[in-house]
Amino acid sequence: MAENARFPDGFLWGAATSAYQIEGSPLADGAGASIWHRFAHQRGTIANGDTGDVACDHYRRWPEDVALMKELGLGAYRFSIAWARVFPEGRGALNWKGLDFYARLVDRLLENGITPAPTLYHWDLPAALDDRGGWTNPDSAAWFQDYARTVFERLGDRVPLWATLNEPVLVSDAGYMKGVHAPGHRRPSEAAAVARHLLLAHGAAVEAYRGTAKGAIGIVLNLEPRQPASEAGDDVAASARADVYFNRQYIHPLFTGRWPEGLPEILGPACRELTPEERARVSQPIDWLGVNYYSRRVTRRGAEPPLEAEDVPADPARSTDFGWEIFPAGLTQVLTEVNERYGRIPLYVTENGAAFADPAPDRAGEIADPRRIAYLRDHLGAARAAIERGVDLRGYFVWSLLDNFEWQQGYSKRFGIVHVDFATQKRTLKHSGRFYRDVIATNGAVGAGR
Ligand code: FCB
Repeated sequence: MAENARFPDGFLWGAATSAYQIEGSPLADGAGASIWHRFAHQRGTIANGDTGDVACDHYRRWPEDVALMKELGLGAYRFSIAWARVFPEGRGALNWKGLDFYARLVDRLLENGITPAPTLYHWDLPAALDDRGGWTNPDSAAWFQDYARTVFERLGDRVPLWATLNEPVLVSDAGYMKGVHAPGHRRPSEAAAVARHLLLAHGAAVEAYRGTAKGAIGIVLNLEPRQPASEAGDDVAASARADVYFNRQYIHPLFTGRWPEGLPEILGPACRELTPEERARVSQPIDWLGVNYYSRRVTRRGAEPPLEAEDVPADPARSTDFGWEIFPAGLTQVLTEVNERYGRIPLYVTENGAAFADPAPDRAGEIADPRRIAYLRDHLGAARAAIERGVDLRGYFVWSLLDNFEWQQGYSKRFGIVHVDFATQKRTLKHSGRFYRDVIATNGAVGAGR
């Protein structure tokens, strides 16, 4: 592709959000509490004591937000469905009001020519299911399948692009191993069972989908290249362990039905071999894979079991407000590696973006965020480079449409291309939002053309 070349025809330009991070009104219209609602209301879990009680008030302002998407020219919108709105207890009685919220959103998106791309699970398990052990419970795959089937039956006729789970490694690692995400467990012994159950839940949802609807279904994984901090054997081995654990724990079984080499040594006996039935369920064909990409990690030997690997802090001059190293080449790398290792499956970049401490709007209401523009431009270039290397990349979703509730960081980290004033809920397009609008209008000629 020549300089300034556009992206392939039909390339999908989108933006992403997730339910608990933007919706607010978590208990409205009969919804049940989720584990994130519960977790955020525990003292000391979230920066500044923030919660998702109001967030971006999207649950009430969604028509305005769809209008904003239209203004940006979005071709697709990736959002997530809150399981506890649909099934307040996680299973059993269906809450039509909750499901209707998403049905109305989907219809409005379609009326505006925006492809809805929902994710069924972006970390907000119904709290009632957590009371039954959450993802440690072997029944969790069946619970998830029932929920998924109900949603497919209602929306499957008009939603063409579905994802089962978002970043399952964050669920098992941050949620059950390290306790920094809901449900806040620090029980390494649970992590292996949770991983198996998440994979089975994904497979069970894909099975339900094949029986009900005809679009494309996939899963969203976060991939981060790992670089050893030195050539010392200990660092190289630690980096390899982190790579297996963070990058391959899910993708490998999804495509091969087996744990990646080295994972059982890390997770211990709880990481038992998958049975033939489990293997088939976990690795059945998916239509696409979503890759979330933010950064790479430089890793050295650490002390903390089970990984005994730790990240070297990145140079602040080359990092985002989160301390994540800005490393666009890593996006090309992860996309081409998926292609080489697991075959040429359609890929989407389902999240990419950066938190920066933006200036307040100036007197004219302008929000200049040149570092976010540079980040996006360089990563779009990296995405295009992957296409040049033969990757079947079908679309790109910026994280995020709106500044929002950034999990344990609360509202202190802003990722939006649209600024949200959380006191007034006023939305203002940042300069990066305008930039992205131009990217979309020119199918990427503006943006990756450097
Ligand atoms: C990803 C999550 C998303 C958001 C970004 C910054 O890990 O999927 O919800 O928090 O990070």
